[in-house]
Amino acid sequence: VPGDKSMSHRTVMFGALAEGTTTATGFLEGQDALCTVQAFRDMGVVIRGPKQGRIEIDGVGMHGLKAPENVLDMGNSGTSIRLLSGLLAPQAFDSVMTGDFSLQKRPMGRVTTPLALMGAVIDSEEGKPPLAIKGGQRLKGIHYEMPMASAQVKSCVLLAGMYAEGRTSISEPATTRDHTERMLRGFGYAVECENDVISLQGGGALKATSLDIPADISSAAFFLVAASIAEGSDLTLEHVGMNPTRAGVITILTLMGADIEVLNEREVGGEPVADLRVRSAPLTGIEIPEDLVPLAIDEFPVLFIAAACAEGETVLTGAEELRVKESDRIQSMADGLVTLGVNAVATDDGIRIQGGEIGSGEVESFDDHRIAMAFSIAGLKASGPITIKEANNVATSFPNFIELMNSLGGNFYEV
Ligand code: S3P
Repeated sequence: VPGDKSMSHRTVMFGALAEGTTTATGFLEGQDALCTVQAFRDMGVVIRGPKQGRIEIDGVGMHGLKAPENVLDMGNSGTSIRLLSGLLAPQAFDSVMTGDFSLQKRPMGRVTTPLALMGAVIDSEEGKPPLAIKGGQRLKGIHYEMPMASAQVKSCVLLAGMYAEGRTSISEPATTRDHTERMLRGFGYAVECENDVISLQGGGALKATSLDIPADISSAAFFLVAASIAEGSDLTLEHVGMNPTRAGVITILTLMGADIEVLNEREVGGEPVADLRVRSAPLTGIEIPEDLVPLAIDEFPVLFIAAACAEGETVLTGAEELRVKESDRIQSMADGLVTLGVNAVATDDGIRIQGGEIGSGEVESFDDHRIAMAFSIAGLKASGPITIKEANNVATSFPNFIELMNSLGGNFYEV
């Protein structure tokens, strides 16, 4: 399974701002991470690769970025535009960031609001991209109580905080992925976490490092569900990132009755990693505990397919954030499931899915990579073929998805 998307983005961002050359293996060569690479190239950073997962970044130091000549295109990547907002707001130069049709519909007020409190000057299209950032502002540290559980917002504020005067601190309504905190420490920048308040002092520096990026648990999730629902499967996924802020999918599938063994647990570069052995097992519907939602936030599309194959009802609540992902993932999944004959009802903050038979049919991907991959997994159990429209977007996070699935006996092809 290819490398972690969140860590790949941060490797480029922190490597670019570090002193010295950062090297990484396991880098995700998906479109999203490549947008971050291109953005830093556009700001004068020399980056070799990625090639076969290896990348080298010649850091320019905290103040070494150059003004980009053109608008920075973040493609489909919410992580790129939101984290870069925090890094670009304190730069000496002006910059403009935009993205594709999906990104242009996503809310950016969640990052521009705290950045404005720090003194940043950013214009948007009514809270959506493009974002025009005015350079030359002196930011000051703030304490920010995040209104939503979002690692992108937390990271944006922390990254701006590295350039701000004084201390920047954050508290989040629920724990979200902590790759920014862990990786900043790995690059030698002190980040404290006390009584659930995360903070750092402005004015520090990053030092180049070398990283071994684990396989993305969000990509592994498609195989965890595939092997659980396809009878007779016995599959081992190697070197999967098991950061506790990301591993909610394993807890949820286990609660549903999945047979997942966590083997060979170890730590690689400050991140827990393990091999996951998954064998097919009958699944049962559950009420998904709300505290697991942020820990499995990207895995719900494929978890809904597990729910459609389970016996009984699965109920998800407290997941309104799913409505502002690459697509409205509650509606996208509910529409497709209903097309396939599954009893699925979208609610404001979640979904109710009655497990049963999955029929065949044609579903929309809504230009969302995880929706496309989730419905392809449904095909393993469907009564006939499932056609997914506009599925090229799979390359956003998982360029070799189809090859890998077919190497395990899948029958996925382009039409
Ligand atoms: C990410 C955070 C999450 C996640 C996204 C990657 C990150 O987004 O959905 O795929 O790398 O920080 P939110 O912060 O919007 O929850």
